Amino acid sequence: MRVLVVGGGAREHAIAQTLVTAGAEVLALSAHANPGLLRLAREVKRAAPTEGEAVATFAKARSVDYAVIGPEAPLAAGVSDSLRAAGVPVVGPSKAAARIESSKEFARELLTKHGIGGLPRYASVRSVDEVDRAVAGFTTPIVVKPVGLNAGKGVWVQGHDFATAEEGAAYAKQLLTLGHEAVVLEERLDGEEFSLMAFVTDSGIYPMPLVQDAKRALEGDQGANTGGMGCYSQRDHLLPFLARTHRDRALEIVAQTVAAMRSEGLAYRGILYGGFMLTAKGPYLVEFNARFGDPESLSALALYEEGNFAELLAGVAGGSLDPTLLRFRLRATVVKYLVPPGYGLAPKAGGTIELDEPRIEEAGVKVLFGDVESAGPGRFTMGTSRSIALVGEASAIWEASVRVDAALRFAKGEYYVRRDIGTKIDLARRTERMRSLFVPGAKPSPLPLSVAAPDAPPSSLGTTAQVIGE
Ligand code: AMP
Ligand code: GLY
Repeated sequence: MRVLVVGGGAREHAIAQTLVTAGAEVLALSAHANPGLLRLAREVKRAAPTEGEAVATFAKARSVDYAVIGPEAPLAAGVSDSLRAAGVPVVGPSKAAARIESSKEFARELLTKHGIGGLPRYASVRSVDEVDRAVAGFTTPIVVKPVGLNAGKGVWVQGHDFATAEEGAAYAKQLLTLGHEAVVLEERLDGEEFSLMAFVTDSGIYPMPLVQDAKRALEGDQGANTGGMGCYSQRDHLLPFLARTHRDRALEIVAQTVAAMRSEGLAYRGILYGGFMLTAKGPYLVEFNARFGDPESLSALALYEEGNFAELLAGVAGGSLDPTLLRFRLRATVVKYLVPPGYGLAPKAGGTIELDEPRIEEAGVKVLFGDVESAGPGRFTMGTSRSIALVGEASAIWEASVRVDAALRFAKGEYYVRRDIGTKIDLARRTERMRSLFVPGAKPSPLPLSVAAPDAPPSSLGTTAQVIGE
C-alpha cells in the first residue's frame, strides 16, 4: 500500500513510522526537511501542505492509495476536498467539517443547537464595543480565546494568564483590534484535562487510549499555553485521576457531535479529538480537533499493535474500518518534547541538538523528529517549533518518565524540556487535586499518597474498540 503523509512534524513522523512498520510505502509532503521522514519515506516532497491543488497533483502523480493529513492548517484550507476531488481517499475531514476545530464559534453553536451537553457557558464577541457587556455577563472566572486556529497558543485563562475581568476584557479587545474575526469568552473550567482521540468513519466511532497533554510551557504547569510539551498515557488506557464512566461520557459527547454534523450534511472520515476538562460535575468540552493530537498521537501510536496500521487507516479513508484492527497494547507511555529556548512565547531558533540515537534506543526510548533539520551526523538544527520528541514506555507512567529522563543524557544542546511530565509527584498532585474537587472543602494533601496503578498484566494486548454505531 502506498500512502501520502501530509505534514512534517513529530506527529507525521510517528504516523509514517507506524505505517512503514505495517509494510506500507510512505511518501511525505512537508515544508521542511524532517530527518525522520527523510529516513522513512520513499520520497519527501518539499512543499506547503496547505496548497490543495499541489498536494492533490503530487498524490495523483505518485498513485497513492490514500492520504493522511496530520496538521490542522491543511484541513482548514480544504486540502482534503482537493484530494477527494482528484479521486484520492483521505484520512481527514472536509474543510466544512474541519470547522469543528477551525472555528470555536461553529463548534459551540453546533453543540448548542443540537442540545449536546458538556459545553461551558460562553459568549462570542465580534466587536470591541461588545466586550465589556459580555465579560460582565459572567459570574465565574473566564477564559479568552481567539476564534480561529492558533496552534494552542493565545488562549488566556483568568487566574493564570491574567488576574481581573478588566484585564480579560482588555486582552479580548486587543485580539479584536489585532484583526481576529471574533473572540470566544468562556466560563473557566477547573479540573484535569484529557484528550480523547477517535477514528471516525461513516459507520462508527472508535476511541484510542486516553492521553493527557502537558499544555503549559514550564514545569509545574507554569508559563504560556503551547501546542503541548509532552504527554502521558496509562496502562489501562484511562488516566490516574479519571474513571471509565468519565471516558464513556466524553465519548458520548464526541458521538453526539459526529451525529449532529452528519445531520447537517457534514460526513466525517478522519480523526476527531475531544479536549475535555474533568470537573467535579464530570467531563466538559474545552475544544475539538479534527486530527491526531501532537503530542497525544505519539503516545497512542507507540501503543498500536504492530502490523495493521496501513489497513486501519485505509478503512478510515474508505469510510468503514474493521474493529478487530483496533489493538493498542496495555502499556504506559510518556512523551517529552525538546523545544527551543523561549518556546511558547519567543522561541529562539538556530540552536543545535546533539543526539546519540543508538544510546537512546538502547535505553528503550524512541526518537521522533519535529521542527529540526539535519546538520551532520547526530546533529540537528532547531527551528522555532517543537524540536524532538522522546517516547518512553513501561508498565507504569512514572517508570516511562524515568526512562525518558535517562535517555535525555544522550541529548545535548541548548533546549528546554519539561522533566516533570509523568513523574510520581506530578501524577500525585493531579489525582489529589481532582480528589479535592470531588469532595468540596477537602484540602489537597501536600505530599503524594499513592498513584493509581491498574492491575492489568503489562505485556498483554487490549482493545479500546468500543464501537458507537448508528
Ligand atoms: P483551546 O485552544 O481552546 O484548546 O485552549 C487551549 C488551552 O487553554 C486548553 O488546553 C486549556 O488548558 C485552556 N482552556 C481553554 N478553555 C478553557 C476553559 N474553559 N477552562 C479552563 N481552561 C481552558
Ligand atoms: N496537543 C494539542 C493539539 O494537538 O492540539
